[in-house]
Amino acid sequence: SGNAASLGRGIGFKSVPMAAVDRIVVPEGYSAQVLYRWGDAVGVAGQMPAFNADASNTAAEQALQAGMHHDGMAFFPTEGSSQRGLLVMNHEYVDDGLLHTDGMKNWSAEKVRKSMNAHGVSVIEIQREGSGWKQVAPSKFARRITALTPMTLTGPAAGHPMLRTAGDPTGTRILGTYNNCANGHTPWGTYLTCEENFADYFEGVENPDAHQRRWGIRKGNGAKYRWHEHEERFSAAKHPNESNRYGWVVEIDPQDPASTPIKRSALGRAAHEGAATALTADGRAVVYMGEDSRFEYIYKFVSRDRVKPGGFAANRELLDHGTLYVARFDVDGTGEWMPLVQGQGPLTADKGFANQGDVLIKSRQASDALGATKMDRPEWTTVDPITKEVYCTLTNNSNRGGQGQPFMDAANPRSNNTMGQIIRWKETGDLDATRFAWNHLVLAGDPKQSRYEAQGNIKGDTFGSPDGLLVDARGVLWI
Ligand code: FEO
Ligand code: CA
Ligand code: CA
Repeated sequence: SGNAASLGRGIGFKSVPMAAVDRIVVPEGYSAQVLYRWGDAVGVAGQMPAFNADASNTAAEQALQAGMHHDGMAFFPTEGSSQRGLLVMNHEYVDDGLLHTDGMKNWSAEKVRKSMNAHGVSVIEIQREGSGWKQVAPSKFARRITALTPMTLTGPAAGHPMLRTAGDPTGTRILGTYNNCANGHTPWGTYLTCEENFADYFEGVENPDAHQRRWGIRKGNGAKYRWHEHEERFSAAKHPNESNRYGWVVEIDPQDPASTPIKRSALGRAAHEGAATALTADGRAVVYMGEDSRFEYIYKFVSRDRVKPGGFAANRELLDHGTLYVARFDVDGTGEWMPLVQGQGPLTADKGFANQGDVLIKSRQASDALGATKMDRPEWTTVDPITKEVYCTLTNNSNRGGQGQPFMDAANPRSNNTMGQIIRWKETGDLDATRFAWNHLVLAGDPKQSRYEAQGNIKGDTFGSPDGLLVDARGVLWI
């Protein structure tokens, strides 16, 4: 990026040519190694089952092994070390054809449990060795968090009637996290995992109500993962509130394997992709979040309190108090963060928002009411630590401009958008500002494409469907 160039710190690798080969290709002078594979023991002392290549490991063994389909991850250095630390990563979803010896044949409660245990998060310890890294196992930090791990839900929606179920009349104790896609990590040392396509696991009803329709809880959803056949809470007919207990950002303390993960309702409910954190000048936490779904929204949470020194112990409730906003991108290149606060604007009892829990659980409906901008699948966000510009990948949206679908707008300027774009903005003032100025870093595409809208405006290497995104400490943007 320009920052790195101006600092004289180019990253200096040679481009890798585009190719359609099924292997990892790295630039000249670099190497790649496999560190932690599906089925590798996470490293709990005395409980390190070996991986069976015929996929015959049991559900109980899977709960002690790496899950499938790793996605967002973060490294937590041990006492500032660049040689040793904890690597925390998401296991987004499973491929049941590979997960079980005979795939989805003879579907059973054991297979559902194995699938649930192959989702979630791993905490592993790693250390530098030679030119690479190796897993430290056993490790006192080793932990698997799965779709069955007990969690709590805190913040303004805790105990809300829409969160209460037969299994949990308190509306605060939830089993598990799953479909964890991108992530975040906080200045006080915790990991944030985000629940993305949770709706795909709930078998909906024949005649869904407006809330279920808005959140995609449809008849037929259950066919993909078939959890509801043996884990009844994933049947919306029997347990209509269970789906409201997913779609949250979950805070995990990786240093304490006995800690209970916490779903932070103050950050709102969404098909959450990521949660990028930064600080205001006076030390309050700001969390930027995208909702990766066609025509959904970009959110920002600003904490009420300042981050205190002392790690998680000193900041246990920091993400429980603050203001959640949703973005509107205007045609003149400015934008507004609109507060998702009960009683303000259209968010009143007569519109279905009687309390802040209603607003947070029904954040999509609240954002609709506020007239937020319907985006082309917001994936990761990242804050440039030097310029404080914020970037967000809008991966694609082939439905844009289609029949009965929203038309293109300034921020999402292409119909049948198969390539995606990266949008960026600068807050007007500090990161807690309610106004901002925005533009596009790039419209992704390939100039050789015949369809004009797929060509994009990339100068240099072509790419499409940007997803993971991070500005590093030098100001180098990785896409
Ligand atoms: Fe799971 Fe938005 O990618
Ligand atoms: Ca993913
Ligand atoms: Ca993603």
